[in-house]
Amino acid sequence: MSHVPVLLNEAIEILDPQKGEFFIDGTFGEGGHAKEILERLTPGGTLLGIDWDREILERNADLPNRWPENTVILENGNYADIPRILKDHYLAKADGMIVDLGFSSWHIDESKRGFSFAKDEPLDMRYNPERNDRTAYEVVNSLPEGELADVIYRYGEERNSRRIAKRIVEERRKKKIQTAHELSEIVNSVFRFKGGKLSPATKTFQAIRIYVNGEFENIRELLGSLPEILKPGGRLGVITFHSLEDKLVKDAFKLLHQKGQIDFLNKKVIKPGREEIIKNPKSRSAKLRGIKIK
Ligand SMILES: C[S@@+](CC[C@H](N)C(=O)[O-])C[C@H]1O[C@@H](n2cnc3c(N)ncnc32)[C@H](O)[C@@H]1O
Repeated sequence: MSHVPVLLNEAIEILDPQKGEFFIDGTFGEGGHAKEILERLTPGGTLLGIDWDREILERNADLPNRWPENTVILENGNYADIPRILKDHYLAKADGMIVDLGFSSWHIDESKRGFSFAKDEPLDMRYNPERNDRTAYEVVNSLPEGELADVIYRYGEERNSRRIAKRIVEERRKKKIQTAHELSEIVNSVFRFKGGKLSPATKTFQAIRIYVNGEFENIRELLGSLPEILKPGGRLGVITFHSLEDKLVKDAFKLLHQKGQIDFLNKKVIKPGREEIIKNPKSRSAKLRGIKIK
């Protein structure tokens, strides 16, 4: 299935990339947003595309060749390390940046790393298996019950976290939990009502994925180093997919605004319209916030 970038027109409108500018795509993924940015930077623009997942980056590495009038650098790295990545490539601060948080549809559909609860895949959930040792398998099979419950509550806002952690521990005593499907069956068994739109395992899977990848630490690190990344007048757009992620971004922007360091690019948070949600139901929870460095 081909990837459909979320809130694409809205992001391009607020970021307003211009000919010859330097932009960073901190979550290059399948290049959906990068393509449109490259189109606007032509000719003479520069794009630094970063993704923590080497496999997804390599699969899409040919894409920028369609814009030979621009300079494109693709880097397998963490957006939390952008200040260092800029220095390594002797790049100055950028005119603009987009970060489209979380995982891509490719992770769910093709990565075979246990992101989807419907699949019988090994429990991994790492974006970067080379540089991250913490797998979902270890979290599920080794974390003490209390800590596991805290992870599920804190990163999944799951009210049944204690019961879920207890059931996981009961099951793993009998036999190690090997696959995403096994884990989802265990979580589902805690719930009596299973008929809603979302699987009862959704929040638990979200929580484990966030914990495995240190997603919130990475977002905080990135938002704390914006003045090292963007020049005065530089624009940033962040797309989030759930309330915890959005709150992190909203609070960080609010603080920067109070300190007089930024202006908001949009007064109200931007959400997908009806048409986008019908075409791409995965976009329904997306939110876009934009700022400009003063
Ligand atoms: C929602 S997708 C981006 C999709 C992209 N905008 C597109 O249109 O194709 C998020 C991407 O961010 C990557 N990612 C997650 N955490 C990251 C991090 N800390 N640093 C860099 N990339 C990260 C994932 O591997 C995934 O490819």
